[in-house]
Parts: sequence; C-alpha cells; structure tokens
Amino acid sequence: MTEANQDILVHTAAGVSSITFQRVAKKNALTSAMYAALADALAAAQADAGVRVVVFQGDAGIFSAGNDIADFLQQPPPTQDSPVLRFLHGIATFAKPVVASVCGPAVGIGTTMLLHCDLVYAGDNALFSMPFVNLGLCPEAASSLLLPQLLGHQRAAEALLLGEPFTADTALALGLVNRVVPPAECNGLAQAQAGKLARKPLSALIETKRLMKCGQSAQVLATMAQEAASFGRMLREPAAREAFAAFMQKRQPDFSAL
Ligand code: COA
Repeated sequence: MTEANQDILVHTAAGVSSITFQRVAKKNALTSAMYAALADALAAAQADAGVRVVVFQGDAGIFSAGNDIADFLQQPPPTQDSPVLRFLHGIATFAKPVVASVCGPAVGIGTTMLLHCDLVYAGDNALFSMPFVNLGLCPEAASSLLLPQLLGHQRAAEALLLGEPFTADTALALGLVNRVVPPAECNGLAQAQAGKLARKPLSALIETKRLMKCGQSAQVLATMAQEAASFGRMLREPAAREAFAAFMQKRQPDFSAL
C-alpha cells in the first residue's frame, strides 16, 4: 500500500492497481498535486508488468467533486505538461483495462474521466454532473466529442449546456455505466470485475482495447488539446471568476452583466 499523495492512495494486489480518492472532507475535490499523483500512478501502472488492470474508486458517499475550485483560482492555466493534462492524457491513452466504481456525486472531471474507463459501476446514490457552463467554463477530457457520440447531441447538450445532475439509473440508461448496485457493494463489485480481467491474458486485453479505440484516438487527443486551450483562457475570464468567487463565498453567482 502506498500513499502517492496524502489524498490519493495506490494499492496493488493480484495484478490490480486500485487508485482511491481519499480527500473526503473536501468531497474528493482534485488539486494539482492530486492530478500529479494520479498521472504518476497511471504511468507506474502502465510500466509495471505486474499490473494488469487499474481501478478508480472513491468511498460509498462521494466519488469526486471535480477540480478543486480554490486550486482553479491559484494555479496558472493548464499547459500540455501540467498535472491535469498529464492525467487526462494518461487515462485516455492507458493501454490496459480501467474500471471505475462511482458512488455519490461525480462532478466535472469526476464524470468526464469515466468516458475513458472501460467498465463503470455505480452506487444507486451516484449523481453525475458536468457543470462547466455554470462555472463559465467549457468541457474537458474530450467530453465535447465523446458525450455526443454516446448520448446523441440533444441529450449531451442537456448534460453539458444545462449542467444538471443525473442519477445512476439515468446514467445506466444512457450507457455511461454498466451496472447500478447498493453503494456498500460498489467498490467490491468493481474489484471483483477487475479481478476477472486480471486473470485473462493481458496481451489479448491490450490488443482488444487498442482495436476498440484506435479509430478515433487521434481525434480524442486533438479535441482534448482544443478544449484545454479554451478552458485555460476561460479560467481567467469574468464569468469563471464570478462563479469561483460565488462558490467560495457560498452564494449564487450573478451572471447578469456577463
Ligand atoms: N473545490 C473545492 N472545495 C470543494 C469542492 C470543490 N470542487 N467541492 C466541495 N468542496 C468543499 C466545500 O467547500 C466544503 O468545504 P468546507 O467544509 O471547508 O466548507 C466541503 O468540500 C464539503 O462540501 P459541501 O458543498 O458542503 O458538500 P455537499 O455534500 O453539500 O455537496 C457537492 C457536495 C460535490 C455536490 C458540492 O460540494 C459541489 O457542488 N461542489 C462543487 C462542484 C464543482 O463545481 N466542481 C467543479 C467542477 S469543474
């Protein structure tokens, strides 16, 4: 068991590397240091021949509140080698299977990272949301490409333009998750499915995943780069500044002049 960072726990056993968000007091909001730990954990899992599958999990009450908003205010805009983009590139290009267990809120990147996972299990308390517009921002993680593909334009627009949360059952109907179970069973189910994958021939898993994704991997990375350029610019603009200030001051944002 290793603590890659005090808020990210990495534990590898029987070919499964489990990466656990453990900043529960802040709803597993992801800081720059946490993205760096996640990117490093993925790179290590990719290089380690003993790792055959990666599992991302939170706890039974929270997956992730998305990017830490205080961090948004403090960090410089992301560049290609910044921790968040290293993490997104790492998960989008990860060659071995990735499983996720999602209970409670999965906000922003907490939802968009799932578009790069192979198997996603949800607790019946899971609540998915991508409130980028509500924060004066735009989508990331190639979600502006992958979400319309998965959901169709109109349902993706509802998720991305309105930014309203949707439940585990809706996510199941939309095809974003594989199965919905009681929250107390979710991490166990993800681990059991990861265990099944870990007992299969790794070369066949890798080749199958590569073939499933190679048709559009270049487009995914190009979209991610385009989104990152817009996101970095929008982070500094008045709408985002007002949204972040409102969150920190626990009030509703006022976009009437923007
Ligand atoms: N960044 C920084 N801090 C966050 C955070 C975030 N994204 N999400 C939650 N927190 C902090 C809160 O400020 C609060 O801190 P405090 O106890 O010091 O006041 C603590 O985590 C608990 O959050 P709270 O809002 O009280 O929990 P909740 O159970 O009522 O709601 C969420 C949980 C996830 C629905 C809600 O916190 C939320 O909407 N967070 C913002 C999500 C967001 O917009 N993320 C950015 C996406 S791009």
